[in-house]
Amino acid sequence: MVRRPRKALFGRRPAPPPPVGLAIAAPVGHDTSRSERYLVLRRPMDAPVPASPLPEGSMFAPITADDATAVHALLKAAYDDRFGSVPESALTWWKDLMLDSEYDSNLAVTAKFEGEIVGFCLCWTSSFVKDIAVDARFRGHGLASALLAQAIEKLRKRGADEIVLKVHVHNAIAQRLYRKFGFAQE
Ligand SMILES: CC(C)(COP(=O)(O)OP(=O)(O)OC[C@H]1O[C@@H](n2cnc3c(N)ncnc32)[C@H](O)[C@@H]1OP(=O)(O)O)[C@@H](O)C(=O)NCCC(=O)NCCS
Repeated sequence: MVRRPRKALFGRRPAPPPPVGLAIAAPVGHDTSRSERYLVLRRPMDAPVPASPLPEGSMFAPITADDATAVHALLKAAYDDRFGSVPESALTWWKDLMLDSEYDSNLAVTAKFEGEIVGFCLCWTSSFVKDIAVDARFRGHGLASALLAQAIEKLRKRGADEIVLKVHVHNAIAQRLYRKFGFAQE
């Protein structure tokens, strides 16, 4: 069955234009091997958190085993093998997640709209933002901001004094999201 794209998702603001001049190119002459393509960003826990309400009609929900296929598909599509990597198989991804010593189910949150998973945020217990992704149809409405704000609050309650993440040097949109929340390059 072919599903028609939804219209008027969240029904509010249009997606913003692409950013200008924010993509940070790898320094000339530097090796551009995989490890060189990511910036490490840090955020002190006491940095201000911008108001980030959930878009109308969406809600947070904990991830369960039944969500593994949908969340894996969301991550695969969102990263597109450029801005992050995910195992090919949903089962492998889920098993790896469940076995990871830094996994805490409280730090893995989905965002749903009409029962469908349209966003996901996962942090490790080391106060590291591992994954954040929003279904392309739902971007530009504040969903990632809402996911990130709730993740920051949970990590704050765990007693962390800073949050760390990695972002691809060419992922200008994600960099804008993170800088909005006070993340800066180390
Ligand atoms: C990055 C991503 C999660 C943002 O999701 P989103 O729900 O569209 O983000 P929001 O609507 O909350 O926007 C948050 C901020 O990101 C920036 N942003 C979002 N979309 C943007 C766009 N199209 N152009 C420029 N900046 C944009 C803005 O700074 C925005 O804040 P503002 O609305 O106050 O200006 C989403 O684009 C995505 O899933 N990308 C692919 C996966 C990915 O790259 N994840 C990050 C891995 S490190």
